[in-house]
Amino acid sequence: MNATQPDEQSIRRRLQAVGQEHLLTFYPTLAPPQQRSLLAQIADLEIEALPALVETYVRNKPAFSLPANVQPAEYYPHDPASPRRPWDRDHFRAVGSRLLKEGRVAAFVVAGGQGSRLGYEGPKGCYAAGAVSGRPLFGMFADQLVAAGRKYGRPVPWYIMTSPLNHEATVRFFEENAYFGLDRANVMFFPQGVMPSLDMATGKVLLAAKGEVATNPDGHGGAIKALCVSGALADMKRRGVEHLSYFQVDNPTVKVVDPVFIGLHAAAPDSTGQMSSKMTPKAYPEEKVGVFCNVNGKTEVIEYSDLPMELQRQRLDDGSLRFIAGSIAIHIISTAFVEKLGTDPSFSLPYHRAEKKVPHVDLATGNLVSPQTSNGVKLEKFIFDALAMCDSAAGRGSIVYETDRIEEFAPIKNATGVDSPETSRELQTQRAARWIEKAGGRVPRGTDGKPQCVLEIKATTALEAEDLKGKPLPDIRPGESVLL
Ligand code: UTP
Repeated sequence: MNATQPDEQSIRRRLQAVGQEHLLTFYPTLAPPQQRSLLAQIADLEIEALPALVETYVRNKPAFSLPANVQPAEYYPHDPASPRRPWDRDHFRAVGSRLLKEGRVAAFVVAGGQGSRLGYEGPKGCYAAGAVSGRPLFGMFADQLVAAGRKYGRPVPWYIMTSPLNHEATVRFFEENAYFGLDRANVMFFPQGVMPSLDMATGKVLLAAKGEVATNPDGHGGAIKALCVSGALADMKRRGVEHLSYFQVDNPTVKVVDPVFIGLHAAAPDSTGQMSSKMTPKAYPEEKVGVFCNVNGKTEVIEYSDLPMELQRQRLDDGSLRFIAGSIAIHIISTAFVEKLGTDPSFSLPYHRAEKKVPHVDLATGNLVSPQTSNGVKLEKFIFDALAMCDSAAGRGSIVYETDRIEEFAPIKNATGVDSPETSRELQTQRAARWIEKAGGRVPRGTDGKPQCVLEIKATTALEAEDLKGKPLPDIRPGESVLL
C-alpha cells in the first residue's frame, strides 16, 4: 500500500482519464475509514496501464501464432538406461543430495490460487488430501520436509507464496497445526500481487463491495516479482539457497525435493542451471496439458489449445507421440535466475486471459451479484513463460526430465471427474501399492490390475520406494484402508 494517503480529487481525475471513475460510485456513502481504504486500493492499481490491458485482453483476445520451427523438446528419459538418451542417474542423485546436505536448496510452493474449480472454502493447501489419513496438503508437504531434513542432515527451508486473499488464513492454519512439526524459523510466507478483475463486456474494473475493488491473484508467474519484492529472495541469499524446488499446492504426490532432478538441473552438461522442468508423457493426443517444445533452441511450454491437433497426433516410428512431454508444473529455478529477471527493468511475463464468474456489486442498485456464467476477465501470468528467458547457447539451455505419472502427479483440481480428490486417492493408492510390492509386500488387486484397497504411505515412513525396504509391511485385505 502507498505510504502517503492518496486524495480523492487526484484519484478521481486519474480514473476519469481512463474511463474507470465508476469505482467511486459509492464513495460518498462510505464511512471515512472505508473511503481511505478504497482510495488506497485504487492507488495501488496501475491505473494508467488499464486502457491498454482492456484493449488487448477484454475487447480482443490475443491471437497465438505458432512459431514456424516448433520442435518437440529433448528430455532426460525416466529410464536412465533408455537407448534414446542414456544418462547417469546415480551421479546426478549424488550431486543433488550434496546440494541438499549443503543447504543450497529450498522448497517453494505456489499457494496463492483461488481453487475455484475445487470449490473449497479456504486456502487449497488446507484441503484434506491424504487418501487414508485425510491429512491436509500442507501437512503432506511438511511431512516430506521433516523426512528430508532427517535424510540430508539439515532442514530444507520452505517458502510459501500466498495471495493477499488467503495469506492470513494460510499462516493461521500453520499456527493451529504447530507448523506440522517443522521449525517455524524455516517456514516463510509471502503474498503475491493482484490484478483488478475486469467486466467481460465493458472492461470496467469490478467492485467486490461498495468500498472494495475486485481483484484476483496475478497468476503463479507473479512469483518472480513477489520473490524479489517480498524479501524472500534476500532471505534465500542470506541462507545460501541457490536452487528453488518449485511445485503447486494441489499435487499431494509431488516430490517436494528430488535429488535426481536437482542434480540434473545443477550439473547436466546441457543445462544452464537457470530453470528446469519435469514432464510426464501425454497419455493421449487430446490430453489437455501444455507441451514442452523447442523453439529456436529455447524450451517453451505451448498450451494444448495453441498446438495444432495435427501436431499433437503425430507419432514417431515406435508409435509414441512426437509431442509427448506434458507439463506438470514442477520446476527447479535458481535464485540467480530469479534475481536476474527481477532486477531487469524490462522484465515482464505476458498476461493470459481467463474468463471467470466474478461476484460483484451492481453499480445501479448496490446489490451483490453472484453470476451463474462467466462475467469477468482475470489476467494472470504463468511461471512457465519464464522458460523462454533462459539463456540458450553453446548447446546449453533449459532442460526437461521425464517422470512417472503414478510416482508424482496426482493433482486435485476439480470437485469431481478428472483430477479430482477421487482420482488423486486412486493414484496415491497405486503408488503406495507399487512401493509395497517392490519392498516384497502383497497388495490385493482386481482382474483389472487395480488395487482393491485404499493405501497411503506417510512421507515420514518412506520418501521413495527404496525407503520401504526392510520395514515391516502389513497384511492387506481387499476393501481395507491402510496407512503406513
Ligand atoms: P491453478 O491454475 O490450478 O489455479 O493453479 P487455481 O487458482 O488454484 O484454481 P482454479 O483455476 O481457480 O480452480 C495452479 C497452482 O498455482 C497456484 C495455485 O495455488 C496452484 O498451486 N497459483 C495460481 C498461485 O499461486 N497464484 C495464482 O495467482 C494462481
